[in-house]
Amino acid sequence: MKIKKIKLQNYRNYDNFEIDLSKNLNIIIGNNAQGKTNLLESIYVLAVTKSFLSINDKNLIKFNNKFAKILGEIINNLSRNNKLDIIFSDKGKVVKVNGKEIKKLSDYISIINVIIFSTDNIRIFKESPNSRRKYFNIQISQINKNYLKYLSEYNILLKQRNEFLKIMNLNNKSDLDYLDILNDKYVDLSIKISKYRKNYVDDINLYLSDMFKYITGMEELYLIYHTSIDEDEEIFKEKLTNNLNKELLYKMTLVGPNRDDFYFKLDDKNLSLYGSQGQIRSAVLALKLSEVKLFTEKTGDSPILLLDDIFSELDIEKRNNLLSTLSGNVQTVITTTDIENITEDIRKKANVYEIDDGNIISIQINNEDGEVNGK
Ligand SMILES: Nc1ncnc2c1ncn2[C@@H]1O[C@H](COP(=O)(O)OP(=O)(O)OP(=O)(O)O)[C@@H](O)[C@H]1O
Ligand SMILES: [Mg+2]
Repeated sequence: MKIKKIKLQNYRNYDNFEIDLSKNLNIIIGNNAQGKTNLLESIYVLAVTKSFLSINDKNLIKFNNKFAKILGEIINNLSRNNKLDIIFSDKGKVVKVNGKEIKKLSDYISIINVIIFSTDNIRIFKESPNSRRKYFNIQISQINKNYLKYLSEYNILLKQRNEFLKIMNLNNKSDLDYLDILNDKYVDLSIKISKYRKNYVDDINLYLSDMFKYITGMEELYLIYHTSIDEDEEIFKEKLTNNLNKELLYKMTLVGPNRDDFYFKLDDKNLSLYGSQGQIRSAVLALKLSEVKLFTEKTGDSPILLLDDIFSELDIEKRNNLLSTLSGNVQTVITTTDIENITEDIRKKANVYEIDDGNIISIQINNEDGEVNGK
């Protein structure tokens, strides 16, 4: 999967902006606060319809404007050209494929797959479980259309169940009957979601240790999925029933996907609790490289890799290891303030764009691999 062109209108610090990308390596250089991260973010937003940085879509609209628009031309493994666009305004967001509005986000999110590596990702493994669940929800949704569908159904149901726990009366038979109906649905969706999460983690673990060893030369790393859900419907339902008094006390649902967590295990220890900053960084990097492999295997097409300012995060040896792992097939966009961070032989293979205050002020096109259409 490749992006040929990105157009931005009133997006962050961009007015009207257009960039044609190389199908291989693209390097965005510029001083601080010129729009490098914003440009990478726009590619991410085009793919997953929300930012990895801000929770509020309104922040994406350029100050004092009414809407923001991102337009992307992509080609996927079927060599079909697709135009995707997404508009944010105070009415919300609208996504379109070839001019046709797509109402179901689960149909849209699997169209372009992106993997981003930024300082922000590293924080995820230090923060609360909620940010990890959000992260893995997006990753799993990109390669499994149904996952997002089940997850939206689950979130609606969870809200209903929590509302009901606030008002229900244990002595009232019809209340107990209604809870039973909610529980049946709750068990069904929880187990479905849990299976997707478990499979995703199992799949990642097929690659993770090798990638981690490759980057650091260190021992085995595993991603662990921690859950309260039992795959057996009866057992899980019993667990819900056993927890009811506690749930009524706290007035919320205490078992299920809303309580899941993910963590790295290195040398039998939880890396978030015992790992050094550098180890966590390398673990996240190994995760990203594993995701590139997994996405490619699952979809038959390579995802787009976005690397934001990784040179401030990784020492020289790890950078080179990273860049050399990327086969020519993965379209990659890298940002940096200093072109000297990138070795001459890698630069030679890339298109280099210099950005200043939301404009491209110079471009060096690498003619060898050319533009996405391979002219
Ligand atoms: N909604 C917005 N409207 C206008 N400008 C915005 C908006 N959101 C962010 N900006 C501006 O975008 C600029 C930051 O851009 P960005 O984060 O892409 O910089 P950068 O080139 O990645 O810098 P660094 O090298 O420091 O990471 C800031 O000047 C910020 O004020
Ligand atoms: Mg930046």
